[in-house]
Amino acid sequence: MSTPSGPSQDDVAQHFNPMAPDQLEDPYPVYARLRRERPVFYSPTFDLWVVTRYEDIAEVEKDPSRFSSAGALDARSAPPPEVLQVLQQGYFPFVSLVQSDPPDHSRVRGVFGRALSASRIAAMEPEIRATADALLDSFVRDGQADLIQQFAYALPGFLICDLLGVPRSDMEQLKRWSDEKTLLMSGTAPLELQVQAAHGFIAMQRYFIERLEERRKTPREDLLTLLVPQSMGGTASMSHEEAVCNAMDLMAAGHETTTGLIGNGMWLLLQEPEQLQALRDDPSLLPNAIEEMLRMEAPIRGFFRAVTTDTRLGGVDVPKGGRLFIVYASGNRDETQFSEPDRFDIRRADAKKHLAFGKGIHFCVGAPLAKLEGRIAFEQLLRRLPNPRLRTDSVAVRRPYFMLRGFEHLPIAWDVPAGTAP
Ligand code: HEM
Repeated sequence: MSTPSGPSQDDVAQHFNPMAPDQLEDPYPVYARLRRERPVFYSPTFDLWVVTRYEDIAEVEKDPSRFSSAGALDARSAPPPEVLQVLQQGYFPFVSLVQSDPPDHSRVRGVFGRALSASRIAAMEPEIRATADALLDSFVRDGQADLIQQFAYALPGFLICDLLGVPRSDMEQLKRWSDEKTLLMSGTAPLELQVQAAHGFIAMQRYFIERLEERRKTPREDLLTLLVPQSMGGTASMSHEEAVCNAMDLMAAGHETTTGLIGNGMWLLLQEPEQLQALRDDPSLLPNAIEEMLRMEAPIRGFFRAVTTDTRLGGVDVPKGGRLFIVYASGNRDETQFSEPDRFDIRRADAKKHLAFGKGIHFCVGAPLAKLEGRIAFEQLLRRLPNPRLRTDSVAVRRPYFMLRGFEHLPIAWDVPAGTAP
């Protein structure tokens, strides 16, 4: 097998570990060295081929026949028998849009295109603004808050519930199940936890099976109604199994990713007070600032593909059956694509070229909603929190995730005008 530069004593590939504390904090120096020295390499630790250059990631995304998404999110081995026994009480394996290839992908994507159409999303603006304002009302006079726990977590969670058409009071339960699904797919947790997560997976399926049945009987103006399959008398050209799995997937796809955008974006702005001030003075800069936030700190740092045939990528032979990890967060800092890639610049002319939403047929179908939520969140945060800053008496804590990049806690403070403090 050939590599552009063979392993050396200080082979940077050996340092690659997204879970290591220094790389959870700041993975970008390792990505920069990987792009220079080992742009495509095999990691035995993770059993993954790691791809870090912009051009190579784009090549993967544009060729779904060579680089498949089917089952690419699942751990490689079959679940242990104790887990499988539980999973077989429902739909398993999991069939969702992001884990499918054409022609199934094109068929299901058509349903999502209608469900998340530009006009449907634009119509959500008043509701997004009212939700952001209500959350801000609950803490604005305190002069301090945990931005993630008190704002960035709830806003997209509530909005996904609204979009699906389920009560906001179900958000916490749905999020717990969704986290259990993620844990199950990673396949690395202790057996006891995996069994517990499998029960959660089945409970979440039952929840959506019941909701779809309700929509069949009484259609509503919501996304779940658009997912009712033709076989049940609905309009969606998908199977019942696909409808259930895709409803489940939306919680993961649309919730924590957007929490990441808001938290990461605020953190970037708090490092750069002049750019923060420029946005307060001129909110019309916000749409480009959101693109630049996504470029600098991709909320999904990378995604997976399965190689369908022996192939060559970035000058390296990759065997059929290999599993790729394409690192958007590295492609977004590629110096061949972006000048001074490590500089946060809300006016950057080509920020939009980032890979944070992917590229090609799997380009994020929720991107317009995520960007609208991001814009309104920052409009309201900057308008209502004067002189925002990181708190010096407590620390920001990142979530220890392989795939996602975001904060668990982001303690911030701001000025409260005299007479309005509680
Ligand atoms: C800032 C927030 C978000 C980020 C960073 C993000 C990122 C991504 C990325 C990178 C992909 C492509 C994965 C691949 O290449 O295989 C993707 C796909 C997808 N996203 Fe998002 N996403 C966000 C918000 C949302 C929202 C709000 C929704 C739903 C309302 C959503 C629903 C989806 C779906 C259904 C797919 C699968 C598309 C397909 O396979 O054709 N995402 N997202």
